This record gives sequence, C-alpha cells and structure tokens, in this order.
Amino acid sequence: MTMLGLGTVLQRPSTSSSISVQTVSPRTPRRLACRVQPCAALVTDTPRPKTLGTSSGNGKVGENGPTIINGQTLHSISAHQLDLLRSMDKYMESSVLPILKDVNACWQPTDFLPDSSSPDFADQVVELRKRTDNLPDDYLVVLVGDMITEEALPTYMAMLNTLDGVRDETGAAPTPWGRWTRQWTAEENRHGDLMNKYCYLSGRVNMKAVEKTIQNLIGSGMDPKTQNNPYYGFIYTSFQERATKISHGNTAAHASEYGDKQLGRICAAIAGDEARHEKAYIKMTDEIFRLDPSGSMIAFSDMMRKQIVMPAHLMDDNEHSSKNGRNLFKDFSAVAQATGTYTGKDYVDIMEFLMKHWKIAELQGLTPEAQKAQEDVQSLLTKFKRLTERQERIMKSKPVVSTQFSWIFNREVPVIMA
Ligand SMILES: [Fe+2]
Ligand SMILES: [Fe+2]
Repeated sequence: MTMLGLGTVLQRPSTSSSISVQTVSPRTPRRLACRVQPCAALVTDTPRPKTLGTSSGNGKVGENGPTIINGQTLHSISAHQLDLLRSMDKYMESSVLPILKDVNACWQPTDFLPDSSSPDFADQVVELRKRTDNLPDDYLVVLVGDMITEEALPTYMAMLNTLDGVRDETGAAPTPWGRWTRQWTAEENRHGDLMNKYCYLSGRVNMKAVEKTIQNLIGSGMDPKTQNNPYYGFIYTSFQERATKISHGNTAAHASEYGDKQLGRICAAIAGDEARHEKAYIKMTDEIFRLDPSGSMIAFSDMMRKQIVMPAHLMDDNEHSSKNGRNLFKDFSAVAQATGTYTGKDYVDIMEFLMKHWKIAELQGLTPEAQKAQEDVQSLLTKFKRLTERQERIMKSKPVVSTQFSWIFNREVPVIMA
C-alpha cells in the first residue's frame, strides 16, 4: 500500500499562508493539486448491537444492520454478504494467493544497498552519495514523503484487520484471508526498509525529522472510511495500490533522469510489487462484483463519492505548520503534484480505469438502489474530469511560495498555493 497516492482529491482553495510569495516557477509542468478529506476520529462510545467473533472469524456481524458512530457508518456488511465472502476461500487460494511471491523469489533491500560486510563498503557508500548529490530538493521531498508513507505499514495491516469476515482473528490464522494480509504486509515491509536505508546512506535527508514524522504518522493512524466492510476495503486498496504503482513508477523515472540509475531501479522494483498487489486486490473485487453486483456497485459509488483518502493524510513533523503556516501533508502532496509524480489527473484516471474494468456503466439486473449508485458514480466521473481540467488551468496562475521542509534540513522548495 501506500504512497501518496491514495487519496487525493480535487483541491479546495487554500486559506492561509504566512510565507512570502515568490514568482518561482516549478521545474516541471504543474498539474492538478490534491486535497484530503478531513479525518473524523472514531470514538467508540456507542454500544455495538452485534456479536463478534466466532472461530471462523465471521461472527454475526451484519445481522442487525450497520452501527453508526459519530456520523460514520461501521460494520455495514450484511449477513448474506458475509456468506458470499465465506464462499470465496477457494477463489482466494486459486486466483489471489498465487500472486504473492515466494520469499526466495523476492528481492530484498540488501540486493540494492551497499554490502555492509564488504571491505569496500565505505567506497560503495561514497558512490551512492555521488549519485544522490544530483537529486534536487523537490525530488527528495517526494521520495521522503513516499518513504514515510511506506513506513506507516503497521497502520495499513491494522486497517485490513478492521474488515469484518476477512480479518486475521488470531494473528496467525490459516485462512486464505489471514495469510493474504500477513504475506502482503511482509512484502510491503521491504519497501519502507529499502527506501529508509537508501535515504539514510545518502546523507541528503534529515533522518531525525523523518523518524519523528513516521512515529507521529503511525501514532495517528488513518481513516479510510471503509465501514469495516471488505466490499469497501478492497475497492480502497485496489485504488490505492494502483496510485502507489504510478507514484513509485514516476519517482523511478525521475531518479534515472537525475542520473541515479540505482535509485531508479529501487523505485521500479517497488512499483513492480505495487502492480502485483493492485492485481490481487482487483481480483478480489472482481469476484465480489460477480457474486453481488448490486452490493458492489453501491460500495464503489459510495467510496468514490467520499473520495479516496491518502494513507498518510495525518502526517506531521511537529514543526511544519508552525514554520510555514500550512499542513505538511498538503504541501508534500503539492510538491508531488508539481513534479508530476502523482496528480489530480492520475486520481481521475484511476477512477476511470476501475470503472471500465468493473464495467460500471454496463452492469445489468441491479436493484433500484444500485441503479441509482450506478448513475451517480458515472455523473461523478464526468464532474471530476471537468473539475480536473478547470483546476489545471487555474493552477497555472496560482502563486508559488518557498516552503521549508524539515526532512531536507529546512531547505526551501517551491509549493504552489492551491
Ligand atoms: Fe502497496
Ligand atoms: Fe508499498
């Protein structure tokens, strides 16, 4: 999972800045900026009307309808839908789990890093530093933001284990769902490890500030608004893995352009993993759509209406907002946008890709509620496309402010004021 990506959305005007306005033009073409949904804290002060937890992990969730807590719907899956998920074990075994790679077939971070047991280790580090010397600051901000997002992996595993009917009930459950969640996490764990070590060795990054941001982010969590419902959860992860693939693919291309071919290979290897994970989550959702087209349509439409939040939307380094007067995640997203790493257009393209893949416009035999959802989400795509084009035009006339990022020792990077 991960990256910037997720969750973007079409930008609202920014309201404040205490920074002096400059006329600096971004180095790369500007594209649409992103906004993030505000996060509503989950407060579990309402008694839950359902019984959870049988040995199968599916409990009786859904028998009494969803729970509403502080205006947020939780445990929305029905008992019938839980039965459908239970019927997917064989499908998971034959079509999804084989997408994971055997440990011996996977790359490991050490494959890309200086060998610390070698007598040439110091020379290898010198070579690495020569390569990273040419990486510009805006590139580093995006790379570090991506790395921090990857490093918050405990949050994403926890998010998967909020999903009714598929969670790993014991921590080592032999179910296909439990194995998927653990082994997906284990593959993802290599991403943050590798990026973190590479950044550390480069000497270009203020690791203490980065480490504080990671600790804050894991401490804050995330709120993807998936209602403890795998229908919603796997639409979210399908979207998000594709977004991550795009983002890491672009950081790979940019690294190579700046002369660091090894970093290019690193980001490309991570993007390759994200591509496999995207395929797996889409396959899970393919089957859910096949078994329950109406329920899936309603979930898809609702997730698109709420918009996909990025997994790192709660990041904080304890100094960015006081120094710059703005939100760290928003500024990181703006730099990702300006460098063409992950943009509002990418967001809309992913939405359109998923709609074509799941044949959203063509599905027949839906319930009246699902037909309404089908119409709504098609209108939403049209609206988002229009807004994206408008935003791209508007952004060209927006002021640019120099913004300090603690991650790169408070060097300044231009940020477009959306
Ligand atoms: Fe991923
Ligand atoms: Fe990842």
